[in-house]
Amino acid sequence: MAKIAIDGPAGAGKSTIAKAVAKELGWIYVDTGAMYRAIGLAALREGIVIKEQISEIEAMLPEIELRLRYENSVQRILLNGEDVSEAIRTPEASVAASDVSAIPAVRAAMLTQQRNIAEQENVVMDGRDIGTVVLPDAELKVFLTASAHARAKRRCKELMEKGQQVVFADVLKDIEYRDKQDSGRAVAPLQQAEDAILVDTTHLTLEQSIESVMNLVRTKL
Ligand code: DC
Repeated sequence: MAKIAIDGPAGAGKSTIAKAVAKELGWIYVDTGAMYRAIGLAALREGIVIKEQISEIEAMLPEIELRLRYENSVQRILLNGEDVSEAIRTPEASVAASDVSAIPAVRAAMLTQQRNIAEQENVVMDGRDIGTVVLPDAELKVFLTASAHARAKRRCKELMEKGQQVVFADVLKDIEYRDKQDSGRAVAPLQQAEDAILVDTTHLTLEQSIESVMNLVRTKL
């Protein structure tokens, strides 16, 4: 099966771009961040203080069943049968996702599931460690980035369009917190794979960003 890996920090445009590429190719898009978000949400609902109760998270893992489902090529995520695709998008779930994603047992469980999906389908998979750890033999690896300021601005716009009330400084703080934690953790940190192609979208519109990744797809595949 063929694979495209798209990695990068929060808010770089990975999911929108990965979705567009998957649609163009007729492949499935796998949002691995949603999986960490669902685990984070499960921990929040259990009242677990993630950074202090690692063993509780580890004990919770065997009880969790995560399933990805596709409706008109749109990924939905089910946590023990409940569709949590919207519930995982809150700022609290973002922080919880980043916190649980630093736990090795969580990463090991996600890795197996992500590789299984990529064995069965042609995938465009996005995340933090796809090119480096999950799919090191991907045909194309893109490392998508943009300045923290530009990413926070985009994220604000996106949240406001969904009707959420947001303060720019809070969104920027959340992005900086996750950047630091996702890049600094010991296991599978956010890192550009040696053979990944860097695309900096700070000064690109979304259309231009999609086009530059599509150009890479056309030359590489
Ligand atoms: O892509 P996202 O913002 O939905 O991801 C949420 C968090 O999950 C992110 O802060 C880091 C973590 N994550 C990860 O560690 N590895 C991945 N492959 C995807 C996400």
